[in-house]
Amino acid sequence: MDVTDPTTNRERWLAAIKAARDAAAVAELETRLFGAKGEVLDFVRSVTSLPKDQRPAFGKAANAVKQEVEQALAARAEQFATAALDQEISSADFDPTEPGPRGRRGCLHPITIVQNELVDLFTSMGFRWEDGPEVESEYFNFDALNIPADHPARDSQDTFWLAPHPGLGRNLLRTHTSPVQVRTMQTLTKHGFHPPLKVIVPGRCFRSETVDKSHEHTFYQMEGLVVDRAGDRGVSTANLIHTMKTCLRVILERDVQVRLRPGFFPFVEPGFELDVNCPFCKGKGCSVCKQSGWIEILPCGMVHPVVLQKGGIDPEEYTGFAFGMGLQRVAMLRYGIDDIRQFMGGDLRFLQQFPEVPR
Ligand code: PHE
Repeated sequence: MDVTDPTTNRERWLAAIKAARDAAAVAELETRLFGAKGEVLDFVRSVTSLPKDQRPAFGKAANAVKQEVEQALAARAEQFATAALDQEISSADFDPTEPGPRGRRGCLHPITIVQNELVDLFTSMGFRWEDGPEVESEYFNFDALNIPADHPARDSQDTFWLAPHPGLGRNLLRTHTSPVQVRTMQTLTKHGFHPPLKVIVPGRCFRSETVDKSHEHTFYQMEGLVVDRAGDRGVSTANLIHTMKTCLRVILERDVQVRLRPGFFPFVEPGFELDVNCPFCKGKGCSVCKQSGWIEILPCGMVHPVVLQKGGIDPEEYTGFAFGMGLQRVAMLRYGIDDIRQFMGGDLRFLQQFPEVPR
């Protein structure tokens, strides 16, 4: 056989392709013809062994053969691929109604996880979810909460002021979720209703902070407010402590010890800082709790009579308690996160560590 003859080769190769009975045979043939030492390539290269004057004609013919064989091989491969698919589709165990492959669903942000759990817990205790605006009026953010202009408490909540709107007073980005306390009371009393009132208000707050490991200019709080009858059978500090302990036990998934220290907030009287025993060192003292064994977690207190009045509620008849929880803080304790900037940093390596959303 003349391996340099285009016509014989062409016929031989096309016949071999036709004879290939399955995809594996086609693959084998591909190696035999087009592999590193493939017959077709050898044949094309054999041009160098010819006398100079025959080379152009042979080159042209050889390339045409190569192209034709290549195409025939590809077409045969395609036939088997389609046949395999056809067979799969018509076979008994292929179910076209089955869902396709499932990708990763992603996970919720840790603040959302903590917020959802807290909302679940509090709604199960009879609290209602309230919402309030992030752009708040100076009145609700400060004045209604017993923080008049020039009160030093305003300094500790330095915030972002918006350009004044003629006739609408001054607006700002709210520095806490507490403004929703008076908003909620007003909505209730405006329609002639009266307490009991139990609400939680999760939401985003802003302060003009210098950002560092434990301070953010944008953060999340969850406010809680309970108003009910005053007196022996009404709400008291004992209810506040019990509610806070329950909440911390559920969210930190362990038994907690708490302690109250006096804390100053103009809208509560008395006001407290509620501390929880440090989960990292179990109270022995470590860098997270600054060697004290306690972590400051929940500012709270009994609602100030002035605030009840602003909400249209008679402080002689009713009393209540309020708390403001920092959700980042809770998430940091819960997941052992040591830098608050992680939450807003948008680093996927951080975000993807949280549990995938269940289906
Ligand atoms: N709003 C206060 C703050 O952000 C926290 C607080 C809420 C204190 C409710 C007492 C009662 O600092």
